[in-house]
Amino acid sequence: MNLVKALLFNLLSLSIGFAYKPVVLMHGIMTGSGSMEIIKHRIEEKHPGTVVYNVNRFESWSSLESMWHQVLEIGLDVANISASHPEGINLIGYSQGGLVARGIVETFSNVSVSTFISLSSPQAGQYGAGFLHLVFPGLVKETVYELFYSKVGQHTSVGNYWNDPYHQPLYETYCMFLPYLNNHKQSKKSEEFKANMLRLKRLVLIGGPDDDVITPWQSSQFGYYNANETVIELRNQEIYKDDKIGLKSLDESGRLHVLSVPGVNHFNWHMNVSVVDDYLLPYLD
Ligand SMILES: *[C@@H]1O[C@H](CO)[C@@H](O)[C@H](O)[C@H]1NC(C)=O
Ligand SMILES: *[C@@H]1O[C@H](CO)[C@@H](O)[C@H](O)[C@H]1NC(C)=O
Ligand SMILES: *[C@@H]1O[C@H](CO)[C@@H](O)[C@H](O)[C@H]1NC(C)=O
Ligand SMILES: *[C@@H]1O[C@H](CO)[C@@H](O)[C@H](O)[C@H]1NC(C)=O
Repeated sequence: MNLVKALLFNLLSLSIGFAYKPVVLMHGIMTGSGSMEIIKHRIEEKHPGTVVYNVNRFESWSSLESMWHQVLEIGLDVANISASHPEGINLIGYSQGGLVARGIVETFSNVSVSTFISLSSPQAGQYGAGFLHLVFPGLVKETVYELFYSKVGQHTSVGNYWNDPYHQPLYETYCMFLPYLNNHKQSKKSEEFKANMLRLKRLVLIGGPDDDVITPWQSSQFGYYNANETVIELRNQEIYKDDKIGLKSLDESGRLHVLSVPGVNHFNWHMNVSVVDDYLLPYLD
């Protein structure tokens, strides 16, 4: 009986030309696809018929492998998924997963993303003990740049987006990922990165003041510290004002959604059903 219902639903969807696009979920650091199951089940329940792919690569300790490596490997899988859904896909990344996902959006011109949702991801980088101590409890945020801004340090994902406001020249010299992904440093890929971002139909940046891990929490919305640790919000950042990766263009064409949600700790974003209902589902087409 359920099978018959599902078939009828699919036929109906096809005949009225309406069906939700598939969703790809990308997990955070030191966890895996299991941590994204609540989101998966809620989407399937509320938007019946949606195909949800839950990325199960680079789980646990391998989530610490370098960001470019993860972007290029997972990107090939997502390109395959995209190829079998010509109507486009939606992409949701949580925490570090939102940065891997943006890397895929910017790098893979054969991945067609309709909505990209970044769920509390350090999009402008990270400078805080909370995040650091998830993985490296013994390290100190003031001095860890000495490790991260080196060839060895760049072999870990966290080093690839560690953005120490007091050591910007070293960040620019050694960091192999974030300065390039943000077109803060120009490369021969810069134009392509921006062009690929501009193909998005919607970019949704979710974060909030009670996160307690992403530091500053505004990094989830491309806000960040200046040289004296004052937070400068997205629209006053160079990346926005100079439209380095298309954020301003997306905003001016009504495609950028910046959501600040209070009352959610970093470890609850992907566990909280009302977050799924109120901030994820409405943006999925
Ligand atoms: C992508 O699909 C092709 C063709 O089906 C397959 O040969 C290849 O292994 C797939 N690659 C990945 C990364 O899944
Ligand atoms: C997508 O593009 C990458 C190169 O950017 C290529 O290696 C990969 O095979 C392509 N995948 C598909 C499914 O077209
Ligand atoms: C810190 O930065 C803000 C904003 O750029 C500036 O107004 C302020 O004067 C700075 N304070 C110090 C102590 O440098
Ligand atoms: C769940 O999310 C809502 C916002 O949608 C928030 O008000 C509430 O505090 C959150 N609860 C937990 C336990 O994170």
